[in-house]
Amino acid sequence: MSLTNAGGSPQCRILAIETSCDETAAAVVADGRHILSNRVASQIELHRRFGGVYPEVASRQHVLAIQTVVEEALADASVAHVRELDAIAVTNGPGLAGSLLVGVNLAKGLAYASGLPLIPVNHLEGHIYSNWLYTDSLPAAGSPDPGESHGPAGGSASDSARKQRGGSASEQFPALILIVSGGHTELVLMEGHCRYRLLGATLDDAAGEAFDKVARLLELGYPGGPAIQAAAESGDAGRFHLPRPLTRPGRRTEPQPQAFSLPTVLPVHGEHRFNFSFSGLKTAVLNLMRQLEREGTDARQTQTAADIATAFQMAVVDVLVGKTADAAEFGVKQVCICGGVSANGLLRRAAEQHFAKIGLPLHCPPLFLCTDNAAMIAAAAYYRQSYAPVRQSSPTGREHRQDAEAAAQATPHDRPSEPPARDFLALDVYASLPLVDSIQR
Ligand code: KG4
Ligand code: ZN
Repeated sequence: MSLTNAGGSPQCRILAIETSCDETAAAVVADGRHILSNRVASQIELHRRFGGVYPEVASRQHVLAIQTVVEEALADASVAHVRELDAIAVTNGPGLAGSLLVGVNLAKGLAYASGLPLIPVNHLEGHIYSNWLYTDSLPAAGSPDPGESHGPAGGSASDSARKQRGGSASEQFPALILIVSGGHTELVLMEGHCRYRLLGATLDDAAGEAFDKVARLLELGYPGGPAIQAAAESGDAGRFHLPRPLTRPGRRTEPQPQAFSLPTVLPVHGEHRFNFSFSGLKTAVLNLMRQLEREGTDARQTQTAADIATAFQMAVVDVLVGKTADAAEFGVKQVCICGGVSANGLLRRAAEQHFAKIGLPLHCPPLFLCTDNAAMIAAAAYYRQSYAPVRQSSPTGREHRQDAEAAAQATPHDRPSEPPARDFLALDVYASLPLVDSIQR
């Protein structure tokens, strides 16, 4: 197996499986970037009646769906047998334990039966690499507003998009990554492939979680992100104002306060300025709703709910873009936004506007790669194996399995040491992304 030809030949094809939450997904990706197939079986309808993901239901549904999804992904990529591939990749965390187990067990079985190496992938690293993917028949990652201007059948990967994303390390890095999903909100400095420094993270709720919870308060439906976005389309941006938690004055992407009177800037409480906090914003929405009810206004009435959704979305986007903009001032070569919330239209527009103004390349995945999918897992597996391998590749499956066992038992000290991250940001948060890179056997 050759996993070191970043963009060259021969082609390295990886089958990836993703079952960390409520999407059962499988994909085949060539050379870490070229999507040959990408299947996602969504469980949204199943969980809608609970207003959120019901973990036990999610894992049982993964069991029912996974085989078909993998078979479809292989067929779409014209792969007759798993043995034709070069590796199997699987999300092994973070996520719901029962859901992860379904994907991990199938991947282990496939790797065992085929003799292919098994590459465990951190879900967040997958989201990061969604920005490196392209397809022949689907819009290229990084093309201007690809998800909104093209449906899944439209668009094509341009050579320039390929070239741009395949640029040399010095052209691409350091890159600033904003991960915004249902479970995470993190600002990460990517110093090279698979080399990260965590700049800031949420102290409580993730951005997507806040969208989901506020949508539930307003009874707008599930999942909350798209529901808030849809409601906000008919909202009045001037009726309410909500606070921008952990921000400092002077950074605004949206209009200033009008009617509602909570403090605009919440105190930072000694926390680092690249950290986030969204649970107070959710409480601010609840307080606003209570205040309106006391005044005799139904907070869930369609127009009022739309106005609150607008204020909430503006506050979240303001915080996300403001902090990303601040962090980007430290000499990064590009900015990438990823994770389910990166599908948000206002966030994409506000970020585009800001980074176009200062002339910094901004990449957002096309909409179909923002939420959970397996193509991003295959991409991350390819780059991790190419740039930070945890085991040696070998032509025989037995050795691969031995390698995988060794990797599973390795302590962080046994793994190949990475060059020390440069200290050019004067930060007081130096944690690494918690990359779980071994499967317990
Ligand atoms: O990345 P993802 O699919 O799953 C996790 O890894 O968590 O993200 C799901 C999250 C949910 O909270 C959902 O409400 C949010 O992404 N989301 C959105 C939008 N589409 C999905 N949030 C805001 N605007 C959207 N258009
Ligand atoms: Zn995700």
